[in-house]
Parts: sequence; C-alpha cells; structure tokens
Amino acid sequence: MANGNSREYVVIIGGGRRGAAILETLKGDEEVKIVGVLDVNEDTPGIKLAKRLNIPTDVDFVGFIKKRKRIDVVFNATGERYIDEKIKQLRPEIEIISGLSLKLVWGLIAEREKAIALQRDLYRNTIGILTSKMESKNVWAHGHPEKVTEYATLTGQRMGLLPKELEIIKCAGILHDVGKLGINDEILLKTERLTQEEYQIIKEHPVESESIVKSMEFLYTVLAAIRHHHERYDGMGYPDGLKGEGVPLIARILAVADSFCAMTSHRPYCREKTMDEVLEEIKRCSGTQFDPEVVKVFENIIKERFFESDIK
Ligand SMILES: [Fe+2]
Ligand SMILES: [Fe+2]
Repeated sequence: MANGNSREYVVIIGGGRRGAAILETLKGDEEVKIVGVLDVNEDTPGIKLAKRLNIPTDVDFVGFIKKRKRIDVVFNATGERYIDEKIKQLRPEIEIISGLSLKLVWGLIAEREKAIALQRDLYRNTIGILTSKMESKNVWAHGHPEKVTEYATLTGQRMGLLPKELEIIKCAGILHDVGKLGINDEILLKTERLTQEEYQIIKEHPVESESIVKSMEFLYTVLAAIRHHHERYDGMGYPDGLKGEGVPLIARILAVADSFCAMTSHRPYCREKTMDEVLEEIKRCSGTQFDPEVVKVFENIIKERFFESDIK
C-alpha cells in the first residue's frame, strides 16, 4: 500500500489466535505498523506468526504508544474497549478507529490516502499559483516565505510540536505575507521612512493574507497563525494586540523566524547585519516583541547553524 507521505498508521491486534488469523490476511505490502498486545507472551500464535512474517511487534502497547513519536491513526482490531480508553488517555491527539475487521481497515486506509493525496494536489496547485505570484513581486525575490518556513519548522520541531502543528507551520510560513500581493510596490519597496498612512496599509497585510487563505476551506487550520504573525508578546503588535500566550504559539514562532529572515536578507538600502548583531537584536526583543521560550530555542538553532565551528 503506498504510504509515501509518511503518515503513521498503527494496527493493534491481539497476540493470540485471532491476531494470527488477521496476520494471515496480510498481502505483504502494507506499510502499517502492527502491534501485538494484551495478555500474551512472546510464544502466542499471533506474535509467533508476526515474527515469521518479519512484522515488527510490540507486546507492550502502552509503552509503544507513549514512545512512538508520530502516530496518526490507531486501528484497534482487538475490539477491546479498554485499549481505546488507554490510548485516549495517553495521547488524546491520536485518532482511534475501533472494532473493524482488518480487511475493512486496509480499505479505509487506502481511501484516506486517496483523499489526502487529492487534497494535497489541490493544496500544491494553490500554493504554486500564489508563490509564483509572490515571486513576481520583488519583495519576495529572496525566497522569504521558504526561509521563514524553514526556520519556523526547525523551531517547532525543537519545541516538540505535533506533526499536524508542523504542517500548519509549513503552510502558514509560505502564506503569511500573501496579503502583500495587494500592496503597491512603491510602498513595499520604499527605502525611505514610511508615512503614517503607508504604514497603516502595510499593517493590513496579515488580515489580507487571512482573507485570501480563508477562501480555501481546507486551509482553515492555518488562519490564526497567519492573522497573528505580527502580534507582539507585550501586546503592542497588530492586528488585534493579543498578548503573551494569547498569541497562538505558531504565530509566536513565525514572528521570530520572520524577523530573523527579514534582518538577514539582503536589502539594498541597509547595511547587512552580521549574524552576531541579528542574534543580539532578537535576544534584546525577548519578552517584549518575542516569546522568551521561542527565543531560547531559536537562539540555539542559530548558534548551532552559524557558530558551531567557533564553539568547537
Ligand atoms: Fe508579515
Ligand atoms: Fe514575512
């Protein structure tokens, strides 16, 4: 079964006869993690067969569910309700589908993969159109959305965000400034100080970005991050003046990555800052403009990336 997008499906089966019967129905090309569980030991028929078929098993399902970093869906083919309850308790973010025969489970996984692939195509096309439009505006000539996405994703990973949150970062990183498409180049590329009125126009871009993305229903999860990427930790940002943890975490991460990328990109009218100066500036704004927790993680990433050889 094609599972190229690395979604993680876990199928829990009993390690006894019923589990063995389920394993006998496997075609051998399933990219699904099978977990043998329950009150069985290594010698029960299901586990034995799994070993013969080279299917990774884990009799300790609680440990497995706790340890495994990414799991999208658990199919509980044992029909045991307490397993559902336990997983819900341990990892509430995991979707659980229970009590289906394995044949149905395979069918369902295939259907889901198809639906996801369709959605992804739609998403890629849309993003493709928008980014090519953005690139045609000089202001994005240096791959700003991609850079913001890269640094924000690294930060999110270090902060232990869930896979679906990292997906949101990717999408919001690419689209956060799409609202600037409607702003006149004269304002966007102006090298002198902006007038009050011009600044007001610039400040509208997060809301503009949000309303463009809003028209794509399947992207609704990224709206908040886009709208709030210029909020400040001290509440002095825009558009809503949200404060502290009231600013969505992903928006707080984007804010740091966004400023970093803006400061390190080549701007003809500014002297390029050294990496030391950029890092100092970010740290100086910790607690006022930026979330201190995010800055801490971000600082480490930058040090590792740009100063590692100095440290050694
Ligand atoms: Fe922005
Ligand atoms: Fe930006």
